[in-house]
Amino acid sequence: MINEKNGVFTLSSTNTTYIFQANKNEQLEHLYYGSHLNEASINAKLLSTKYMQNAGTSTLYEEDSELNLGLMKQEVSTPGKGDFREPFAKISYNGGMTTLDFVFDSYEIVSAKAKTFYALPESYGSREEADTLRVTLKDKELDIKLIITYGVFSLCDVITRKAELFNYAKKNITIERLSSLQLDIDQDDFDLITFDGAWARERHINKRALTPGIVINDSKLGASSATHNPLIYISEKGCSEFSGKCYATNLIYSGNHKEVVEVTPYNQTRILTGINDSTFKWILHPNERFSTPEAIMSYSDKGFSSISRNFHYFANNNIVRGYWKNKERPVLVNSWEAFYFDFDDTQVVKLAKKAKEIGAELFVLDDGWFGDRNDDTSSLGDWQVNTSKLSEGLGNISSKIHKMNMLFGIWVEPEMISKNSNLYDKHPDWAIIIPGRKPSVGRNQFILDLSRDDVISYLEEALSNIFLLGEVDYVKWDFNRVFSDFYSSNAEISNMGEFLHRYYLGLYKLLDRLTRKFPKILFESCASGGNRYDLGMLSFMPQNWTSDCTDVYERLFIQEGTSFGYPLSAMTNHVSASPNHQTLRVSDIESRFNVAAIGNLGYEIDLNTISGNELEQVKEQIIFYKRYRKTLQFGTLARIDKMSTNKERAVWAVMNNDKSEIIVLDFRTRTISNPPLERLQIPIVDNEAFYEVFNRAQKFDLSVFGDLIYHFLPSNLLKGKAVEEISKIMQLNSEITHHRVYGEFLSKAGLILNQEYGGTGFVNEVTRVLGDYGSRLYVLKKLEI
Ligand code: GLA
Repeated sequence: MINEKNGVFTLSSTNTTYIFQANKNEQLEHLYYGSHLNEASINAKLLSTKYMQNAGTSTLYEEDSELNLGLMKQEVSTPGKGDFREPFAKISYNGGMTTLDFVFDSYEIVSAKAKTFYALPESYGSREEADTLRVTLKDKELDIKLIITYGVFSLCDVITRKAELFNYAKKNITIERLSSLQLDIDQDDFDLITFDGAWARERHINKRALTPGIVINDSKLGASSATHNPLIYISEKGCSEFSGKCYATNLIYSGNHKEVVEVTPYNQTRILTGINDSTFKWILHPNERFSTPEAIMSYSDKGFSSISRNFHYFANNNIVRGYWKNKERPVLVNSWEAFYFDFDDTQVVKLAKKAKEIGAELFVLDDGWFGDRNDDTSSLGDWQVNTSKLSEGLGNISSKIHKMNMLFGIWVEPEMISKNSNLYDKHPDWAIIIPGRKPSVGRNQFILDLSRDDVISYLEEALSNIFLLGEVDYVKWDFNRVFSDFYSSNAEISNMGEFLHRYYLGLYKLLDRLTRKFPKILFESCASGGNRYDLGMLSFMPQNWTSDCTDVYERLFIQEGTSFGYPLSAMTNHVSASPNHQTLRVSDIESRFNVAAIGNLGYEIDLNTISGNELEQVKEQIIFYKRYRKTLQFGTLARIDKMSTNKERAVWAVMNNDKSEIIVLDFRTRTISNPPLERLQIPIVDNEAFYEVFNRAQKFDLSVFGDLIYHFLPSNLLKGKAVEEISKIMQLNSEITHHRVYGEFLSKAGLILNQEYGGTGFVNEVTRVLGDYGSRLYVLKKLEI
């Protein structure tokens, strides 16, 4: 809900209130963002900044004014009038002048939230879900206007913001920085949490205390990046998953971003987020407008899990759109780690048959199916089938898979070009390479200049042909290098400071066209795993390949961090081989499944070479997953115990809306000898409800006992046989846990879990055999009382 009264704007969601006013100087003064306040209790005067004396060196707004902009919390700050903190906007005009003074002009409130600028992805919401406020500001001297748009999404406590600048003056102005969001808070004792990493270890959680000064979280890679995700949290000391005050922001954008967090000497904190100005400079000609990407923010006094629940809901309902919105996603088998580049029709069909046998619903042919692609040195750009591998053509492979009653998907990397390709021979200037300078290179490839309309049209046509020919149901859209040698041969770009943003406008244009043309294709975004994991890509592609690392233990850090900002439906997780291809770590296939099941499940493993026992286990896993899929993909995650803080144990609970179905992952890093009893306490259940609690039935090989089996199995069974041989014919069931208890008991007392194997005895159906990196899934179902 949005209200205006005497120049005071109140934006209310279910649990939060955001207030600002146009003060007596017509400046937009931020007043409050925090726990929900009833309209009647709001006293704007008491919230307004009051410094009665101005300290030495302070600068007052105007000669006859008492206002010190440097101390005031603002909605939009600009340089030159006494605010010396990092500015929201920096615009230069008249040969480098930067002083600006935006004051209130007008406003409009609209119910619902619609897109106003079509070139960038944006959130959306119906009248029931959202309201929009547009506040127009004008500079006191220059003929330029700034519109700040706020979207209020009541149900999920999310507020969105973006800025649009209009140049009505007769001369060009240069936008050096235009942020999407500014949030000034009257407090400075915060921790800052960022989500950082690199290839194969994306979005690890990093927390540090804020002290006076400026901290920057950004990407200059040309993609939102695995280095620093645009998502940030700031939290009061002692804030935990379920209690304490915290704020978080994120950006609906896939290019270079920058989040500035500044703590001032006057105990205030300023947060800015938007396009990274270090790779950006935009010339705005007379009568043009520039729109920033949209940013989002949320506040909670109930800890981190509460904000991530808000972000999950928002992404599922107000970012993801189209056919796959809130629709259960198919279990897939992906060919990459089974084949890499080495396959032919027969092998593909053989793997697809196995995929069908285990219960998969989608078969994805990854890299290598096009051009002359036999390794990563060639063919990007040549989107025609590689007939030396697929002699029957893509259409035939696809129809065979469709006949098996599975969906068919392919991998593409459209934004790239290999020098060794027909496309490069024809259009060398389409590659981002500075003429006369030796280019830097990544994975032997170059990026296509998507700021050019001819490149976009080529890709639209080439991809449309392949999608039609292959009757493609799913597309994995990859992006395997980042930007270097910033340059465009596009004659329309005279200022290279615009290039990267124009690239992203081009990419979004292409994605918009393709997703409209092929509304039923399920697109999955990928960038060497999760190097472009953001709400911009999610606006077109409802899911995202979380990481190239599928190691059971490493994944906990990656999925845990990712869950702070992105829903489980977006997080695709694959069960892969052991030893794992990225870490060589050995782990049990049941535990690999348990971790991959928290989100969107796939298998990326040669199903023809895994053991018969494992194949049976996989079939059972998929049956289980399908039974609880709605919750596992669209439920929200509560991080009861985090691997990133606990180091030895992770406990995550995924719950549906009314908490009638909850799936709990309990993962443990190491086995210790003679282990103490363990308790499973689940604070997020419905305390009033009565639950049935049971564990997913798992199997394990006798081989885990090694030569101990000679001591407890009957000797006739063992005659002359090696442990591995016996293992092949005999598997054991995991222990059984089955209770009926009140929610209150689960949340306050917790369950004592079955005793773990401790070196002195094993009782089938009772002893928990976990091993290193072992885990269990528990199901909690509400019962009628
Ligand atoms: C990237 C992706 C992988 C795989 C390969 C194919 O690395 O992240 O999943 O598709 O490309 O080359």
